[in-house]
Amino acid sequence: MIYSRNRRLRVSESMRGLVRECSLSVNDFVMPIFVMEGENKEEPISSMPGIFRRSIDLTVKECKELFSLGVKAVNLYMKVSDNLKDNTGKEAWNKNGLMQNTIKAIKDAVPEMVIMPDVALDPYSIYGHDGIIENGKIVNDATNEALARMSVSHAEAGADIVAPSDMMDGRVLAIREALEESGFQDVGILSYAAKYASSFYGPFRSALDSAPKDNMEIPKDKKTYQMDFHNSREALNETFKDIEEGADIIMIKPGLPYLDIVSKVREAIDLPVAVYNVSGEYAMLKAAAQNGWLDNDKAIIESLTCFKRAGADMIFTYAAKEAAMILNK
Ligand code: PBG
Repeated sequence: MIYSRNRRLRVSESMRGLVRECSLSVNDFVMPIFVMEGENKEEPISSMPGIFRRSIDLTVKECKELFSLGVKAVNLYMKVSDNLKDNTGKEAWNKNGLMQNTIKAIKDAVPEMVIMPDVALDPYSIYGHDGIIENGKIVNDATNEALARMSVSHAEAGADIVAPSDMMDGRVLAIREALEESGFQDVGILSYAAKYASSFYGPFRSALDSAPKDNMEIPKDKKTYQMDFHNSREALNETFKDIEEGADIIMIKPGLPYLDIVSKVREAIDLPVAVYNVSGEYAMLKAAAQNGWLDNDKAIIESLTCFKRAGADMIFTYAAKEAAMILNK
């Protein structure tokens, strides 16, 4: 005789609602946004259906729309012209640079939007690496100084949280110290603590033209700074170091193939945990949906909810706007 029957609590939508262990809401979303020079310009990114690079004016318009749908945080990436790229990445802290002007414009138009600029040198580097290169190697400490200057210039422009995605050692401390010294005690750091060297970043790199360049003199991938995807204990090590250095939020990236890491980090720490549903994950879902192989809306809501189940507090996702529209229906 079976007395314990799990199906009893699945009989109706109302009953399932009562025993639901987590929920997905628009408050969980951070929308990554690609910005380019110009006016009234919008270019589709072919491997990411529904996602565009936009000039600042249209980016502001998009931010207003996002905010009215309930998406209250954006993560910013710049498409930098080739003539502004070099090995030092100095355009990254130009007071009048594309990033700084974008932050100001969004802050003016949608003051309550949480603005999280990406901090890393790759879009500004002639080599497409996240750090400065000397003798064929990515140098750590000189890169940290650049990242700290970049972060302060983002804070000056009005950023709420800076988001270093570069994976240099000690950069959270370097950034925290620079922010404190410049009077930006209230600007937070969302640290990509466990960021893996992943093939799922492909569509993003083509959107920004930021892939490591094909050049015999430099490493052809990011494996000397991003993590090896075979490892999980190392993610905790990275996480604890970043917390010690002053991180406010811990990010795991990529997302769907790394839910074990999200869950493990969630168990280990009390700080907010963020997860990045990256470009390649978005591209896979869209490709299948466009072929009629997956139900687009259901697959989006299910995958985003799985991040919550794994323990994430916030989700960086290109599907943020679409998911908000689905949830608001
Ligand atoms: C670069 C950066 C990358 C992404 C975010 N910041 C690419 C990389 O590390 O090469 C990828 C995001 C995505 O694929 O959606 N610092």
